[in-house]
Amino acid sequence: MKFHFLGKNEEKNAARKGAVRIALTEGKSAIFRDRDGVRTLEIGTGEDGLKKMTRRTFFLTMRKIIAEAKKTEIPSLHIHMPDFAFPRLGFTEKELGEIIAREFILSNYEFDFYKTVDADRHFFVKDIFITGGSRKTEEGIARGLMIATHINKSRDLVNTPGCDMAPAHFAENAIAESKGFPVKASVLDKQAMRKIGMGGVLAVGDGSQHEPKFVILEYFPLPRGQKGKTGKKIKPIVLVGKGVTYDTGGINIKTGSHLDDMHMDMAGGAAVLHAVILAAKLGIQRNIVGLIPAAENMPSGMSLKPHDIITSLSGKTIEILNTDAEGRVMLADALTYAGRYDPALVVDVATLTGSAMSALGQRASAIFTKDAKLEALARELGEKSGDHVWPLPLWDEYAEEIKGTYGDFANTGKTRYGEAINAAIFLYQFVKDYPWLHIDIAPRMVSIEGEYLAKGGTGVPISLLLQLIEKA
Ligand code: BES
Ligand code: ZN
Ligand code: MN
Repeated sequence: MKFHFLGKNEEKNAARKGAVRIALTEGKSAIFRDRDGVRTLEIGTGEDGLKKMTRRTFFLTMRKIIAEAKKTEIPSLHIHMPDFAFPRLGFTEKELGEIIAREFILSNYEFDFYKTVDADRHFFVKDIFITGGSRKTEEGIARGLMIATHINKSRDLVNTPGCDMAPAHFAENAIAESKGFPVKASVLDKQAMRKIGMGGVLAVGDGSQHEPKFVILEYFPLPRGQKGKTGKKIKPIVLVGKGVTYDTGGINIKTGSHLDDMHMDMAGGAAVLHAVILAAKLGIQRNIVGLIPAAENMPSGMSLKPHDIITSLSGKTIEILNTDAEGRVMLADALTYAGRYDPALVVDVATLTGSAMSALGQRASAIFTKDAKLEALARELGEKSGDHVWPLPLWDEYAEEIKGTYGDFANTGKTRYGEAINAAIFLYQFVKDYPWLHIDIAPRMVSIEGEYLAKGGTGVPISLLLQLIEKA
């Protein structure tokens, strides 16, 4: 999708170039109308939609425009910026440009990579003509375009089937994507992980023919450890992403529909990878580290088994009660490793539990933190970014659930209740002396009807991570 900026009073030129003008109206439908000789597609925003427009419905409306254009195969659209100004929503010109570009590009995405027949491929909107904007609009659109491009790249990774996305593929891709940016990408292989005692990642990877990898991304635009402008020591923000390239469950094998979409169990890792690259591309002045433990969770003669007891990087032992609770075992090592950076903040992102989905449905990720201010900020930025989050408790009493019988900790709770919380409190046992936010994105792993996104991965929560990087 390309954006073209036309000057003042050039609205007629957009029509001459064959672009269909977009107008927002009340009501449900999307219909073509002739407005003063200009071919116009009217997009319904719902009953009293214009009057009741919220940030949320605005984002969706932007996506709906593209969804309708794709459906009716319109290659070229004309957006007159003043038609999209809702002063009540308080968008700056730049922000409005960013939102329009981002949501348009997110909605224009499809995963057609494996379609070999042209006719089976989707129709895409190619050109957007913008009138009535300013320099600020253009800046916003450039930023939105960059953000959405990387969100879509992460969706490509998430949607790639397991056969083409083993841990080594993920690691190679991370290195390739980092090229050309001031991001240092390095990969710990099995041997390197053994050397430092990353028992959790290794154990989860044991059952697979494909070796586990531990991906490390470092973007350090500021001098490490020195005092910054505010007089405070410059500490990085560390992002941790679960990178299970396929989750069969292991010996506790998943059956039937529980296997659906389990090639997407590296969505947290894909989000972290592209959040770091985006920060570098946008030149954000903040030191950032990305850590992605990647493994394939498979059953085999070499697999981790129930009642195995493994030693994690922290030195603490973990009693495996269920090999399908693999994410937390890998993340435990990554959270320990994060401590090496003396971080200002650690945020982990993981498709961790079906339980988070049971609790919240598919419209919000679950967040957990001990830090009330951080929780409030995450909720606010969730609202701002469109990557909605909702808190669940991280109370110490839940730690009773994951006390080990023979080892230090057990990797599942004693009952089948509250597993999203049990997983979070388990992770908390490996959190060192740094502020920490855990985001269980299992609820948002795949898109849902009505959000005008292609079937498959959503790219959540890259927009939120970016805002956290800039504001937390
Ligand atoms: N990757 C899954 C969680 C998941 C399920 C994500 C569905 C997205 C959609 C995770 O590794 C898992 O299997 N969790 C188990 C934990 C249980 C064995 C304690 C679960 O949620 O069932
Ligand atoms: Zn998993
Ligand atoms: Mn699992």
